[in-house]
Formats: sequence, structure tokens, C-alpha cells
Amino acid sequence: MGQKRILLIVAGGIAAYKSLELVRLLKRQGLAVRAVMTKSANEFVTPLSMGVMTEDQVYGDMFDLKDEREIGHIQLSRQADLVVICPATANILAKMASGIADDLATTVLLATDKPVLAVPAMNVRMWNHPATQRNLAQLRKDGVTIMAPDEGAMACGEYGPGRLPEPPVIAEHICAMLRHDFDSTLTAGRAPTTKSAAASLSAQPDFADISHRPLYGRHVLVTAGPTHEAIDPVRYIANRSSGKQGFAIAQAAAELGATVTLVAGPVQLETPPGVIRIDVESARDMLAAVENSLPADVAIMVAAVADWRAADVPDQKIKKDGQGVPPLALTENPDILATLGQHAQRPGLLIGFAAETEKVVEHAQAKLGKKGCDWIVANDVSGDVMGGTNNAVHIVTRDGVESWGDAPKEAIARKLMEKIAHALGQG
Ligand code: C5P
Repeated sequence: MGQKRILLIVAGGIAAYKSLELVRLLKRQGLAVRAVMTKSANEFVTPLSMGVMTEDQVYGDMFDLKDEREIGHIQLSRQADLVVICPATANILAKMASGIADDLATTVLLATDKPVLAVPAMNVRMWNHPATQRNLAQLRKDGVTIMAPDEGAMACGEYGPGRLPEPPVIAEHICAMLRHDFDSTLTAGRAPTTKSAAASLSAQPDFADISHRPLYGRHVLVTAGPTHEAIDPVRYIANRSSGKQGFAIAQAAAELGATVTLVAGPVQLETPPGVIRIDVESARDMLAAVENSLPADVAIMVAAVADWRAADVPDQKIKKDGQGVPPLALTENPDILATLGQHAQRPGLLIGFAAETEKVVEHAQAKLGKKGCDWIVANDVSGDVMGGTNNAVHIVTRDGVESWGDAPKEAIARKLMEKIAHALGQG
């Protein structure tokens, strides 16, 4: 596969100077970067320094006829594999959310058919303002991935969320997104598909673990939800998994600063802020998406993957033909967790879930060895855990068993991610 290309849109905020460092890191990963700067971005960074970093022309003026002839805004918006807005100010987010196109940057954003990542940076009050939050919610619905901002002291002297994440973390997020081929309907809010990996990226980005959040600079991979296994074009085999526990874990990981890839089966849940979501249907799609997402520091396989699928899936709907019940032959699905357990790029910490209806801990202990993972989070699903709001789990490791009583799935998720952060911290 050829070199991957980023179109970087720089809006005018105090954090704009950090976009130069971002470009340096992306180039080091072998990516091509082309920049569009808004008029106010020029007040913070000169196009000259940006051009030196990108080793390319810097685009800025919509009405530079020469540029419009050589490379119009439509072309500019389509030539990239990923469009990144960094920093994304409250102003550019508001324009995007309402479809305003009054300069080159916003016109490109309206014209693009490529996935878009926004990296917001602004004053805490601007970030918390209902208008900004409304715009962010709209943009998420439109299929834009939004990185969660950092929390901390700001250039304006206030404190809170709204700081630009450190450039190495943004670069890692971009690399994680580029490992997937998102289809061009992404901007219409539809599910991205997974096809192939970005071969031009180095396998293991050499980003330093830099910040105050315990999982900053780490890549956490989570699977969630059920899988659907086709019987024919209209029928499928499914299970009762809602995806709630896996989504809560993805959210908790993102809140601890991780770059999170969430591979989700068919569920009706909103993507947690900042999380890279890959929607899949079947177990085989899920395995492909998981392998595509590697390398990862931690993988938490929460999905209730169907163990079996139909051996033959006809192209046409199976008809009731009065000849009795059609036979349904099943075949085994790949075991994603066990595959990762033996993978050349096995995540440093590999965690499985085990839904059991009896001898919960005993079965989980057996599963540790069988699947080649480090921890098993075991739960009793004989009640209403599947699809419910609460969970009670046993964390089974080679050192013993820790049991956590009934609690909301979000609380279990936070506690689990804290335990993971602690384990990683201890090396
Ligand atoms: O064997 P069992 O289904 O009980 O194992 C559960 C664990 O294995 C979960 O972490 C689940 O996500 C994972 N799994 C998998 N691929 C399968 C079946 C289960 O990754 N085909």
C-alpha cells in the first residue's frame, strides 16, 4: 500500500504552534502531510514554518485562483486518507456543525468524503458552553471522531478541560485511525468498514509516555457487543449482549488518557468521546478488525462472540416450501481471544471475559490457560447481566481471584481500567 496522506487543517488558537510538532511526528511515521491554515491560524504560526515542516505548499486562500485551478478544494479534500483539524477551535467546530463553508478550511471540510478527526483546544468555559457541547454532539452524529481534550492549566490562566492533547498522543491516535480503511460514507454517520491495514506505518510508534494521565500514550483495544452470523440474507444468529460493559470499558480507558480502538458488534450505543470505533457484524469481521488494530498495549475482549456460524449461507432467502424444517448445519467461528494469545503482536496485557452460568471461577481459571490470556473477568450471567445495567465480576489472574460485588457497569469499567493502569505502571 502506498504512503498514507493527512490533510491537516490548522485553526487559529494559541495551541496552533503545537501543530508544527505534530507534523514532525507524523512525518517521522512515514506519513505525507499537507496543511490548510485558516486566516487566524496565520496569527499564531507562519505558513512559512508550516511549509518547512510539511515540505509542501501550504493552502490558505480560497480565492487564490491559481491554486483553485491547480488543486481545487474538492481535490484537496479527497486526496487525503484522513482529515485532521488541529487545533479545532470552538469557532471551526461551530461552523462544521452547521455546514458553513466561508473559507478554504471549512469548504474542504464540507466537501470531503474522508474520515475526519477533530482535536479540540479552547478555554475551559468555551469548551463547557452548551453551544460547543451541542456542536460536538452534532459532529459525533455526523461521523466526526473527536479527541477528548486534556485537563489542566491553560494558557489563559484558567484550569479545566480544553487543553490540546500532547502531539505524540495525537499522532498515535491518527496512526490508530489509519490502520483501518474507513469507507467514504463515514461522514454521513454510517458505520466504517474495515478492510486492510496501513502498511506504510511502522508497527510500533516510538512515542514516549509523557503525561499525567496513567494511560496516556497507550493503545487499548476493546471488543464489545454480540456478533451476528448470517443464516441467509435476512436471518441471523445472535445473542443478548448489549455492548454496555465493553463500551463502558472503552470510555474508562479513554478517560485515563489511552488511545482506544473499539471494535463493536451490532449494538445501539453511542460511541464514547474520543474513541475510534470500528463496526462489524460477524466473528470473522471482528477478528479481521482486531488484527488490523494491532499493535496494542492492552486488549480487552469483552464481546460475546458467536461460537458458531451457519456452515453455508445461501445468496437467496430460504423459503418455506412445505417440505418441513430446513437443516441448519453450524461450523466453528475463530476464537479471537485465543488467536491474540498466540499472535506475533500479542498485546502486553491480554484480558478476556467469561460469561458463565455455573462454576464461574473454576471455568475462568481453566480459560486462562486455554486462551493464553493474562486475566479473565468472569461474571455470572444466569441473572439479567446480559443487557442489564449492573455487573458483578471475579478478576481471575495467575496470582489469584479478586471479587467485585454488584455495581453499575460503568463503575466496574473504571475499577478495571484503574487496575490495568496500575499493572502497566508496575511494568
Ligand atoms: O470461550 P468463551 O466464549 O467463554 O470465552 C469468552 C472470552 O473469549 C471473551 O473474552 C470473548 O470475547 C472471547 N471470545 C473470542 N472469540 C470467540 C469466542 C469468545 O474472542 N469466538
